[in-house]
Amino acid sequence: MKVSVTTIPLDELDIDLLLVPVAEGAVEATLKALSEQFGEIVQRTAADFTGAQDELIWLYPESGRARRLALVGMGPADRVDLERLRRVAARGAELARERKVVTAAIVRPQTSIDPESASQALVEGFMLAAYRFTRYKTDTSDLREIERLVIHETGEDEKASRRGAERGRIIAECVMTARDLVNLSPDEKTPTKLARLIEQSAKKYGYEADVWDKALIEEEGMGGLLAVNRGSPEPPTFTVLTWHPENALNERPVVLVGKGVVFDTGGLSLKPTKDSMDYMKSDMAGAAAVVGAMEALARLKIPLYVVGLIPATDNRPGENAYVPGEVIRMHSGKTVEVLNTDAEGRLILADALSYARTYRPILVIDLATLTGAQIIALGTEAAAVMTNNVEGAEERLQAIVAAGERSGDRVHPLPMYDEYAKLLESDVADLKNIGGREAGSITAAKFLEHFVDYPWIHIDMAGPAFLKEPKPYRPKGGTGFGVRLLVEFLRDFASPRRFSS
Ligand code: BES
Ligand code: MN
Ligand code: ZN
Repeated sequence: MKVSVTTIPLDELDIDLLLVPVAEGAVEATLKALSEQFGEIVQRTAADFTGAQDELIWLYPESGRARRLALVGMGPADRVDLERLRRVAARGAELARERKVVTAAIVRPQTSIDPESASQALVEGFMLAAYRFTRYKTDTSDLREIERLVIHETGEDEKASRRGAERGRIIAECVMTARDLVNLSPDEKTPTKLARLIEQSAKKYGYEADVWDKALIEEEGMGGLLAVNRGSPEPPTFTVLTWHPENALNERPVVLVGKGVVFDTGGLSLKPTKDSMDYMKSDMAGAAAVVGAMEALARLKIPLYVVGLIPATDNRPGENAYVPGEVIRMHSGKTVEVLNTDAEGRLILADALSYARTYRPILVIDLATLTGAQIIALGTEAAAVMTNNVEGAEERLQAIVAAGERSGDRVHPLPMYDEYAKLLESDVADLKNIGGREAGSITAAKFLEHFVDYPWIHIDMAGPAFLKEPKPYRPKGGTGFGVRLLVEFLRDFASPRRFSS
């Protein structure tokens, strides 16, 4: 989709659909202005329009070059935030699709939100709502692509609006990268094939990708990743991504770790098929988010040194599979008693987190579809976020929660009290890989905490990563959750105030 910003008079805009978001209280002025451009019919047709949230009126103008107008209510003006803008733009994309239009424009509403952020949000909402995964559809003759989105801008905000629209387009495309990877059929994303896809992304957008094969993983002693992989005919991979621009503000990197379980059968602790194993192609959504974020960092030229680590394997019950009761030795040297082979994510993440120590990172963020308990706690509306209690924990948590609110990829904190660690004590090894029914997301995080010695943020995104029912601008299937969160967080992290003095 092409995205642009224009300031030409509205009636000169040659467009199939012009979307006009209107807040309550702005109705009268908007209608007056529109009728000057598009004719008296505007006032008459929209006479009852109040601007209430989601209210919709179609208009077929008498003059001007727009084929059709859609007035969409945004509700009370003082409650218009970035998410409201994304959703109103998403509504525009739905309408555009229903009418099979090829070009659409959105009038950026005058609100208290700065024009740059507002345009970014409008473009994100529109593009993400227009996304469809059609790779496996043999007949797509019924689908019409929306080719162009125009943001209409008035006054002197053109430059800022253009910056925002461009950033919104890039971020939306990176979210789509993540969605595509999650939606891909598992046979097309074996660890090796996934690594190849990541290499292609790196090449295309100018960051580095180094793919380790099984021999290297063995040499490095990644006992968790290797144990999970044992029941699979496909070898594991460990992919190291690097974005290190010359103007990087940080010397020690921020490290992103993404769970790359390309298919989770549960292993010998086999999952039931219905509503469980049948969704497990999404178990690499954390990895997909890291890839999307690396693309965005490179494309937006964010001045930060960032490393991405992606341990990838499937989890299968093949004849050599690891078994419940087995004790494995991890990359860190710690031993783990595996009591459930379906708690595999923490084993591969633990090795990646332990390897991350070699970078002496200033911060590590891991993203993982880690526990069903996260879905029980928060559903699909927010991921769970946890952090270790070392330097700056409070500030770190605040920053990631704030990035979640702004980006729309929301995260909600869970506690990390010492007491929870008890649940992981093993009779025979240093720790066991399950903590029982209670506080499942927290005990998973407590497990990982054993393998970090740096400031660390853990994001359990089992719920929001994949939808069975669509939400505004998030269709069924992979959502690309985490990309916008990471980009927002890292953009803020790169602000000069952190690195001055
Ligand atoms: N990949 C699953 C978690 C998951 C469940 C993600 C549902 C998305 C939707 C993870 O590997 C898993 O199986 N976790 C177990 C852990 C348990 C055995 C301690 C779980 O949550 O049931
Ligand atoms: Mn599992
Ligand atoms: Zn899993």
